[in-house]
Amino acid sequence: MIKLSKLASAVAIVLAGNVAMAGEVEVLHWWTSGGEAKSVGELKKIMQGKGHTWKDFAVAGGGGDNAMTVLKSRVVAGNPPAAAQIKGPGIQEWASEGVLANLDATAKVEKWDELLPKVVADVMKYKGNYVAAPVNVHRVNWMWANAAVLKKAGVAGAPKTWDEFFAAAEKVKKAGLIPVAHGGQNWQDFTTFEDVVLGVGGAKFYQDALVKLDQAALTSATMTKSLETFRKIKSYTDPASPGRDWNLATAMVIQEKAAFQFMGDWAKGEFTAAGKVPGKDYICAAAPGTANAYTFNVDSFAMFKLKDAAAQKAQADLAAAIMGTEFQEVFNLNKGSIPVRLNMSMAKFDDCAKLSTKDFVDTAKTGGLLPSIAHGMAVMPAAEGAIKDAVSQFWNNDKMSVADGVKSIAKAAATR
Ligand code: GAL
Repeated sequence: MIKLSKLASAVAIVLAGNVAMAGEVEVLHWWTSGGEAKSVGELKKIMQGKGHTWKDFAVAGGGGDNAMTVLKSRVVAGNPPAAAQIKGPGIQEWASEGVLANLDATAKVEKWDELLPKVVADVMKYKGNYVAAPVNVHRVNWMWANAAVLKKAGVAGAPKTWDEFFAAAEKVKKAGLIPVAHGGQNWQDFTTFEDVVLGVGGAKFYQDALVKLDQAALTSATMTKSLETFRKIKSYTDPASPGRDWNLATAMVIQEKAAFQFMGDWAKGEFTAAGKVPGKDYICAAAPGTANAYTFNVDSFAMFKLKDAAAQKAQADLAAAIMGTEFQEVFNLNKGSIPVRLNMSMAKFDDCAKLSTKDFVDTAKTGGLLPSIAHGMAVMPAAEGAIKDAVSQFWNNDKMSVADGVKSIAKAAATR
């Protein structure tokens, strides 16, 4: 009897300990499309498996502009979520407000410094301390094509140059289909725009114009050529594109209504969720003229300072799970991206992901590895927003001359 009661109280203590340390994580993200929701669902499962409660804080709107607006109001109200999808230089901006938690204890135990490319680790740190956990590496400069549509239109494979692209687009148009599936948010316009700048001007020009925001590059003849090419692409989109979500544009390619989409490889998450196979149903190819370059977009979760001990424990477990091999594999298989954690097996990944991995490594050696400005990797949010708006104004207003477009983008780039 005595033994039994001792055992019972020991069990009670252990259980109480577990309950006390099981906390809630409220996670702000904008992953609401089919492929995205499936991917973030994997993180939820892992956290629930550890006994924690997942409070989903999804704010619809690809690219995350809506999510960032909502996040600001929550932080200003003194009620931040445990974690929020915050990326690139935006991490530094939030950290400088003093609201982010220090993740060094987790990072040390989990050996993040050894498991991450230094360029990525540096972005996750503020004044040398980890404040965010990286999830993946998305490649932005992809062009997606429906294989059956290309066949129907008599287009042999993915075009490699912009001239080849326009010849292919013309054939698709003649076949009565939509050449380019495009949606209607400024980040979608910019995703196409940065592909064009890279394809027309090359890696150094992209770096000068869109990362360094160099006025000479921004007002150069190459920028004029880029805007001319960009405008020509628009003539191959359908009139219903304004306001359309990016995943609905992807669906047009999946459903054989459109031939091409310029989009990062989260689009592959939609093809995967629809049961489509790369190389058979669809083609992933670098956007014309950009095969030797790689615009990257690293998703990450920044963690906010919390008071409650159980919530802090749940938050640390979330950070550890994000960098763990289980999550890095299953999440990225669904999301279309590749693991950010080094030395992961790519055995289960498809050819698009394998090409992405190879090109990520190769371009890092040649100077072709570049931050995506459309996805918050290159410049501070204020300048990014102003440039995005200027690019979209040009895209949406066919009456604006190319010369005026160049001027207004260059002026926006001077916003600090
Ligand atoms: C990007 C994000 C991707 C993807 C995309 C569309 O900014 O990094 O993971 O979700 O928006 O929602």
